[in-house]
Amino acid sequence: MDFQVVIDRSTGIRNRRRSWTVFTILALVVWPVIGSVIVGTASVRAQPPETQKSVLGGVYTEAQATRGQEAYRQECAGCHLDSLGGADMAPGLVGEAFQKQWTDLTVGDLFERIRISMPQDSPAHLSRQAYIDIVAYILKANDFPAGSSELSHDLAMLKQITIVAKTVGPAMAAH
Ligand code: HEC
Repeated sequence: MDFQVVIDRSTGIRNRRRSWTVFTILALVVWPVIGSVIVGTASVRAQPPETQKSVLGGVYTEAQATRGQEAYRQECAGCHLDSLGGADMAPGLVGEAFQKQWTDLTVGDLFERIRISMPQDSPAHLSRQAYIDIVAYILKANDFPAGSSELSHDLAMLKQITIVAKTVGPAMAAH
């Protein structure tokens, strides 16, 4: 080994070896990083067209909201009031503050939040269908338009519906 080094020093080969070492490190470390960035960018571009829609698109039916209203009156109004305006510790479920709170989240998030934690005094005891009907009623009370098909309680589908803030309508005027 020592012998080799001596030869290298005397011929200058060692320096050349060092620059090969640097090149090899570049090749092994830097290229994969650059490569993965390029591949990453390509896979972002290759994503399928947007399937996301919003609550402005008519995602529940009037009949569903009417069912939801009955369930809401029995299960929720005791704390959140018939007007959905909220009282004491229970926050309002209509109007600007509520919509801002939920903007950019999805109907799936709202559904899960309600299903898991409400009614506060006995959470998760309603059927999924009853919970999604109540969500439809909350959307209607917030003046989001009804449409021709019901909201299903399929979470993956609900996650594709974004909540957006809307100018506040009559539901808030009653508050
Ligand atoms: C016993 C009283 C009570 C009942 C009944 C009740 N809630 Fe609540 N709810 C609360 C309280 C208190 C909070 C605030 C504390 C919290 O977030 O857990 C709340 C929070 C919420 C929130 C979160 C609001 C926000 O903007 O973050 C939603 C949504 C909600 N309730 C919906 C419902 C629905 C729908 C029902 C009926 C299925 C219901 N609640 C029944 C007391 C109640």
